[in-house]
Amino acid sequence: MATPITSFVSPHVRHLASDLDLDSESLLNLLELAAQVKRTPARFAQTLAGRYLALLFEKPSLRTRMTFELAIKQLGGDAVVSTGPVGGREPVKDVARNLDRWTHGIVARVFSQATIDELAAWSSVPVINALSDRYHPCQALADVQTLQERFGALDGLKLAFIGDGNNVAHSLMLTAARLGVHVAVATPRGYEPDAEIAAQAARAGRITVTNDPEEAAANAHAVYTDVWTSMGQEEEAAERAQVFAKFQVNDRLFRQARPDGVFMHCLPAKRGLEVTDGVMESPRSVVFDQAENRLHAQKALLVTLLG
Ligand code: CP
Ligand code: NVA
Repeated sequence: MATPITSFVSPHVRHLASDLDLDSESLLNLLELAAQVKRTPARFAQTLAGRYLALLFEKPSLRTRMTFELAIKQLGGDAVVSTGPVGGREPVKDVARNLDRWTHGIVARVFSQATIDELAAWSSVPVINALSDRYHPCQALADVQTLQERFGALDGLKLAFIGDGNNVAHSLMLTAARLGVHVAVATPRGYEPDAEIAAQAARAGRITVTNDPEEAAANAHAVYTDVWTSMGQEEEAAERAQVFAKFQVNDRLFRQARPDGVFMHCLPAKRGLEVTDGVMESPRSVVFDQAENRLHAQKALLVTLLG
């Protein structure tokens, strides 16, 4: 007999402000649920019936906005979207206490993690981090789902993250390392991941931080990169293009990975900078599987928090 859907709602998880809000058990349950949601979406078609979420975007988005809107609608709920600053006209704590009177959950993409933390502190409904300067936990969930589909077990895999020690790198370190993936991050000097986040991730798994991209990529099951200039850092773009030049994922670097190793990118990608067109378009590129899994992983997250 099929497990009742309500059994997936986790009493332990209230918000996803950062990756660490999901403990290892909740993370494993969520991955299992994401696979079920992907296999049998119709089973979940009424899970959020009568539920409404607020989606707040301070920054542009294709994947995150589309997949959250679609996920909520496909689960039987609905969403309202607001773009622009969160808390510009009034304190963030007041925004939180307006939205929680009207909606059942808040999804927010913001410049500062402090905005997510304040929304979570003041909201009586779940708050989901849809990207901040420090974390991108929804991306990491889709990424580990993609790795699991490709390789089966996650335990024992090596993922090389090449480029900027940014929000995407932080979330991969925190989420993938707890599932037994060795995360090796290679950045130019001065662009390493936050030391506190690296230490947190290393307490729960295997983390390497290096300035040598070949060392990180050696025998990796996945070579992952992201833009060198994240949203909000545009004025540094020219300088970063120079500093990061040796960190491009091209055929030469990708050859250091295992022959069955995959290329990963959260997208959007800047071809000719962090990755060559050849690697992006290669048969071993799983970037669109990652994008597809944003939908399924986020459905599983919404069912876990709100179902
Ligand atoms: N990967 C990702 O979050 O893409 P968007 O910026 O388009 O949402
Ligand atoms: N690091 C990038 C990720 C975009 C999805 C940024 O923050 O702009």
